[in-house]
Formats: sequence, structure tokens, C-alpha cells
Amino acid sequence: MADRSSIGDKASSSIIVDLGDRSYPIYIGQGQLSMVDFGRYIKGKKALIVTNETIAPIYLDSVLSQIPDKTIDVVILPDGEQFKNLDTLNLIFTMLLEKQHDRTTTLIALGGGVIGDMTGFAAASYQRGVSFVQIPTTLLAQVDSSVGGKTGVNHMLGKNMLGAFHQPNAVVIDLNTLASLSDRQFSAGMAEVIKYGLIADYQFLQWLEANVEPLLNRDEDALTYAIKRSCLNKANIVSADETEQGIRAILNLGHTFGHAIETFQQYKGLLHGEAVAVGTIMAAELSVLTGHLSPLDVDRIKNILTAFGLPLKPSAKMTPNEFLSLIYRDKKVLDGTLRLVLLKTLGDAYVTDGFAIEWLQATLNKACEA
Ligand code: NAD
Ligand code: GLY
Repeated sequence: MADRSSIGDKASSSIIVDLGDRSYPIYIGQGQLSMVDFGRYIKGKKALIVTNETIAPIYLDSVLSQIPDKTIDVVILPDGEQFKNLDTLNLIFTMLLEKQHDRTTTLIALGGGVIGDMTGFAAASYQRGVSFVQIPTTLLAQVDSSVGGKTGVNHMLGKNMLGAFHQPNAVVIDLNTLASLSDRQFSAGMAEVIKYGLIADYQFLQWLEANVEPLLNRDEDALTYAIKRSCLNKANIVSADETEQGIRAILNLGHTFGHAIETFQQYKGLLHGEAVAVGTIMAAELSVLTGHLSPLDVDRIKNILTAFGLPLKPSAKMTPNEFLSLIYRDKKVLDGTLRLVLLKTLGDAYVTDGFAIEWLQATLNKACEA
């Protein structure tokens, strides 16, 4: 396990995801975009930057100016979760083929989790696998999606249903990019930050409860600490279980419910982090029914999510049955058995199928109440 004590040091800005000969660094700090030598991670002569129409005008030039010695092509995708699909993925492949990129190419994901997941999947499958680098520009992507090698796209019938595990060669987190992020997107990222406190790091949860204001004000020290501690938690879990044979599944707290909401809304309603927040409350309420969590614990989770501006209920009108059929499409369903990530206590999550269907039904009913 990496050492949590090192994260107080602002100057030491890299964390290693330990995966043997596929280990890679996560660089974290202000101004990283103009500090990191991206050329180091581009083995061949060419690379393709994948970004979108919102991010390109703000950050593309900074990245381009850091790679003077390579031939860099750029593909600019439409922006939005509703475009995270095979049609948009194909735009990346078309650009790679038109510009004659071979197996020595490197893909560079410049954007949030949508861009990162699609670029990673393109890198996993183009000519059976090429290198890629993550430059996450949302809080959510910086603390979660850019780390750990889960890549993929959505299907209209299910979220992230097509994908591959493919690790990046490096993750470059420049805190300055958060300056242009909207408050709503910032809050969505906080849902995944809070997740680490709930699943594995109670001390971090306490720290978050005590630091709502500096975080909402995007105080540099508080943000640096929160991002590093989140990445450290994620790196430790991924290093222990890269392909989710066991412990890694706890990173999906609230996601089975959240993904159902996103799919129901056809990827145009709640943001991913917002849907995860709603799902987290549902998982916590079910954890009370299993006899583990207390109602006071649930209130505490509600309080911190609310403090960061996150919703506690799905915004669209869903029926419990619609919910139920969608959650049975989750990737944690094995041989028809639904498994969920629940909480034993604050700071300790586990994966289980040990809940009565009436408890699940009661949780869905409550979430769907007006
Ligand atoms: P996103 O990628 O859609 O980005 C949110 C919005 O912010 C977009 O409009 C984007 O263009 C804009 N944006 C990005 N950076 C910006 C910046 N610096 N300034 C201004 N605007 C900026 O959403 P997200 O929340 O970053 O990612 C959500 C996605 O991540 C979902 O598809 C989810 O499934 C995926 N995800 C993947 C993993 C994983 O392990 N691979 C983990 C968590 C989430
Ligand atoms: N976001 C879940 C995972 O990376 O496993």
C-alpha cells in the first residue's frame, strides 16, 4: 500500500500506480500542462490528441506547445455523455486511419471522463492496442476515471457496457484546469471524492466534512490534498485488483443505482457524479436494512452530499420496476444474481448478494417517491 503520510507534501507531486512492468505515474499539481515532457510518453513519431469542442479552445494549445518534436494530429469530438458511444468512437478510428497512424502511435486524452474513457477504448482496440496518456480536466476525471485503466462507451441499453481494461502510460493532472470548470461539474466530481471516504478511508471522510468551505472555494491546498488522497486510494485498490476480480468492485459504491438512472435518462439528465450521489444514498439505505449502517450514518452521508450541492433523489420520474430491470443489467450481476456494493460501516464497503429482495424493493420505492 502506498503511504498516505506523503500526501501532505505539495512539492512531491507524483503517485505510482503499481502494476509491475505496466506501472505508471500520476503527476499532480498546478501548471503540470506546461511542466510535463509529454514527448517522453510518445514512443513513435506521431500522436493523436482526442478532445472535445469545449476543451479544445481552452487547453489544446498548451498541450501542443509541450510536444514540439512529434507529428501531432487532433480530433475534436462533440461534447456530452450522450455522445459517449460507438459512433463517436469511430471518429477517432477514422482520424487515425486517415492520418496513417501505425502501432507506434500514442493517443492523448485531453478532457473529462467521457473523453478519457473513449480515448482509452480507442487505444485498447486500434490495431489491437496502442499507448495512451490521460490529461484529465474535470475533478471527476482527475480523482477517478483517468486512473485504473477502465475504458469504454455506453450503449442505449446500458452504461459503459462496451469496453476494455487498458492502462495509460501516464496521468497528468493540472489543477489549473479546474478554474474553468462549472460549479455543477465540480460538485459532480466531489461525489467520487466522498466515495473514497465512504468505502475505504474514514479519516478522509472526516477531513472532507471539516473542509467543505475551502473545497467549495477551490482553495489550492485543500484541492491538492483531496485529489492526491483520492488518487492514492484509487491507485492502491487498482494495484491490488486491476481487473476487478474482487476488492476493486467497491469503487462502484452507488454506481449500480446511478448507472440505471443515467441509462433511464438516456445520458441527458443527471450528470454521472450526481447519479452516483443518488445511488450512494440508496446503497446506504439498503445498508441500514441489512443491519450494518445506522440511520444516523445515512444522515451524515446525506449532509456531506448536500453540502457539496449534490442531489439525493433521481430527478426523472422512474418507477421501481423500471429501476429494477435496469439494475439487473449491471456488470456486477453474475449468472443472474445481483451483487451490490454496500457499507458495513462508514469507511468500509463490501460486495454482497446477501440482501432480501423486499429490502431492495423498499429502497427502490423510497427513491422513486415524489
Ligand atoms: P465529462 O467528460 O462529460 O465532462 C463534464 C463536462 O465538463 C463536459 O461538458 C466537458 O466538456 C466539460 N469540461 C471538461 N473539462 C473542463 C474544464 N477544465 N473546464 C470547463 N469545462 C470542462 O464528464 P466527467 O464527469 O468528467 O466524466 C464522466 C464520465 O466518466 C462518465 O462517462 C463515467 O462513466 C466516466 N467514469 C469512468 C470511470 C473509469 O474508471 N473509467 C470512473 C468514473 C467515471
Ligand atoms: N470507477 C470504478 C473503477 O475504476 O473501478
